[in-house]
Amino acid sequence: MRLVRAAVLTTLAIVAAACQKKSASDTILIGHVGSLTGAEASFGTSTENGIRLAVEEINARGGIKGKRVVVKTYDDQGKPEEAAVAATRLITQDKVTVLLGEVASSRSLAMAPIADANQVPQITPTSTNPRVTKDGDKTRPYVFRVCFIDPFQGTVMAKFARENLKLERVAILRDVGSDYSVGLADYFKKKFEELGGTIVNDQSFKGGDQDFKAQLTTIKGKKPELIYVPGYYTDVALVARQARELGIKVPLGGGDGWDSAKLYEIAQGALDGSFFSNHYTHENPDPLIQNFVKRYREKFGGTPDSMAALGYDAAQVAFAAMARATDLSGPAVRDAIATTRNFPGVGGTITIDSDHNAVKSAVVLGIEKNKARFIATVNP
Ligand code: PHE
Repeated sequence: MRLVRAAVLTTLAIVAAACQKKSASDTILIGHVGSLTGAEASFGTSTENGIRLAVEEINARGGIKGKRVVVKTYDDQGKPEEAAVAATRLITQDKVTVLLGEVASSRSLAMAPIADANQVPQITPTSTNPRVTKDGDKTRPYVFRVCFIDPFQGTVMAKFARENLKLERVAILRDVGSDYSVGLADYFKKKFEELGGTIVNDQSFKGGDQDFKAQLTTIKGKKPELIYVPGYYTDVALVARQARELGIKVPLGGGDGWDSAKLYEIAQGALDGSFFSNHYTHENPDPLIQNFVKRYREKFGGTPDSMAALGYDAAQVAFAAMARATDLSGPAVRDAIATTRNFPGVGGTITIDSDHNAVKSAVVLGIEKNKARFIATVNP
């Protein structure tokens, strides 16, 4: 009796193992690391939605190399150290083929060495700091992005402020805890000064701060015509409200980190008249974009922001590369991603350059009646 039971159990174990093996080889697992909670929760949530839409569509078309795509996601709570832990877990335990994420540069920077060391390709949808794909003067072999970089984004807003708005005096308020914010502030400053403008004051804060009145009071005394605040939406919205409370009436300027429905919820109109650079606008009439907006709305019930659009693009670039790759090993998929040319993304056409960046246009948006409106497209 005992023997029979043992035999049955063994058989079951073999069948289970066989099933597991079969299901493992029938699927491709991709990993996503994002801020699903915390002060930048909309970043991770939007990206996740974009990725899920892309996964649903590729599977409806029969998957990749006959395999179904499955995504596994970890929340990093907006912390670089958690992003590193999640990347390691996805690579070593879950054995993902590709890593998607993060949105924020500081968190992508925490993941990048792990992707390189393990030869697992990482594609960040929206991290714009140059160092994410470049370590010193060496391009990180396994790290890519499907967005432009901040030297360009900073230039776009500096030119807009100087040439379109004809401003001479700008103050900066930067988040010194964020690689993104510090980089973008520097690139903006450099270009604005090159174009003959003056940075009348350069102040700092730390993401999560609640009180910006001391910095804003100093800035007010310098009489700038615009305050450039390249931060993330929660901080920026609070800065805007406190600026208005102090009687500062000039517009604020910023970058893609402003892009969130929450920005308007928190700002309550305090950002009217302000401007920021971004990756894409859902107002673009291009049918490719309008179809995406429609499908996204049907599935998630909201308007896709930049993170949703570029999360979708990052996943699609990964899928196209896996389909082209000779096999699904890290090096083969890496080589395929590196040869991405003229990929029609909803956030613009993607060609990966030798530094693993996408050379793309940016848009400038203006805020009116607590809503972002498309103003201009700027080409590199
Ligand atoms: N570009 C920002 C960074 O690198 C992240 C970001 C992208 C935030 C898009 C909002 C929208 O940190």
